[in-house]
Amino acid sequence: MYAISEYPDVPAIEKRIEALIGTPVRRPGDAVLADYHAWYEKNTATSKAAAEEAARFIPGGVQHNLALNDPWPLDIVRAEGAYLWDADGNRYIDFLQAGGPTVLGGNYPLIREKVTELLAECGPVTGMLHQYEIRLAKLIHDFMPNVQKFRMLGSGTEGVMAAIRAARAYTGKAHVIKVGGAYHGWSDQVVYGLRIPGTGSLEAAGIPAGAYALTQETAPGDLDALRARLTANAAEGGTAAVMVEPVGPESGTHPVRHEFNRQVRELCDEFGALLVFDEVVTGFRLGMGGAQGYFEVRPDLTVFGKCVAGGYPAAGGVGGSDEVMGVFAGGLTAAGKRALIGGTLAANPLSCAAGYHTLVEMDRTGAPVKAGRAGDRLRAGLDALIARYALPYVTYNIGSIVHLHTSGVLHLSLDHPDFFTELGPRKDMLEQMSMAYAAEGVITLAGSRIYTSMADTDAVIDDALAAFERVFAKV
Ligand SMILES: Cc1ncc(COP(=O)(O)O)c(C=O)c1O
Repeated sequence: MYAISEYPDVPAIEKRIEALIGTPVRRPGDAVLADYHAWYEKNTATSKAAAEEAARFIPGGVQHNLALNDPWPLDIVRAEGAYLWDADGNRYIDFLQAGGPTVLGGNYPLIREKVTELLAECGPVTGMLHQYEIRLAKLIHDFMPNVQKFRMLGSGTEGVMAAIRAARAYTGKAHVIKVGGAYHGWSDQVVYGLRIPGTGSLEAAGIPAGAYALTQETAPGDLDALRARLTANAAEGGTAAVMVEPVGPESGTHPVRHEFNRQVRELCDEFGALLVFDEVVTGFRLGMGGAQGYFEVRPDLTVFGKCVAGGYPAAGGVGGSDEVMGVFAGGLTAAGKRALIGGTLAANPLSCAAGYHTLVEMDRTGAPVKAGRAGDRLRAGLDALIARYALPYVTYNIGSIVHLHTSGVLHLSLDHPDFFTELGPRKDMLEQMSMAYAAEGVITLAGSRIYTSMADTDAVIDDALAAFERVFAKV
């Protein structure tokens, strides 16, 4: 039922990661990287030209923060199942999966047909009620009984904003605690403690300090620190919400022990804070019951994104109990007491139709479990390669979320005496590895994360492993 066949041994992984960041970077040498650059020059001329034009009109030359841009972003023209094709006809195995939503595989025909039917009937948006809004909300409730009411929004970022607003409106408290390293979208109040735990406002350019003054971070898995925060906050009006990614920050880049979520639930109950699960990634990727079903822990609020619109635009929302979600009563007559959320394109029929049919199809086909088995096969193969080439790299998987840490940059500690000298080369290495994998025919998420899908057959995984081996052999 769930994508995870065996939960990772977190203390063992933490030890290996510690050893990785204690080892000098181990990457393909400069001559090998130059060969890969030469491959791009020879084979991706159309992408290069597109990148030059993009750089004139798009800041940084790419719209996505995670787009591969060394030596230049690839101009992708076709997606199907396990593969992407660029404008020069090169085929790549797609482990980016658009950042996670396409558990069925890329450009799944049935969803495309349903969306096309909907568009022919009523277009993408009317601003009125549509049956698909009801069908999607009801289906989510069927899969996640804790989500009695669901409010569709435009993105995971908006879902997080809404969850924080609901928690504050419902509890009358103000503080919000997140786990260091976690990304919960880019709204002012959560661009705090991103990627590397403990970094606080390091990435908060353009955000006034007041906007995150009530946001706090605690180290991944550190329950004592969380208790201390909750205790300190209790003397200052209390904590509205503790927000976690249930598999650990950045989809488990900093993994947490299995019992962590249950223990956070207990702390929230003790201190009267709401527990918010950010299931933007885990929502339906881990199984139709999400992380809350897998861990058997009830959050008060759940944030959705990605799969909730099946890879189609405007993917986000928030759900929870009747009582808590009551603060969002919609419509004109509810004005006055409600917490305001909304949006011109929130809950448009297109996103709801895509999300509804995607979830039905994921359930019917057992896509989360199949994608999880692909993740298991890939991780086992990567482990074998790491051992064969005696590399310090660390790999583990949480179902279809596979981590491959080669540089360890996100695990550097601010307490590390050489933090700032280590940061640059380790960050560069991620980009170099990402480039090498792509030249060998595999697209990853930022060179360190891999999302598998139902389309990843054993043959696809074995091809990918052969590509990883070609890179590892040159380290
Ligand atoms: C855990 C998590 N929360 C929130 C978000 C933000 O979602 P969106 O990009 O739809 O705004 C993301 C995006 O990757 C995410 O991974």
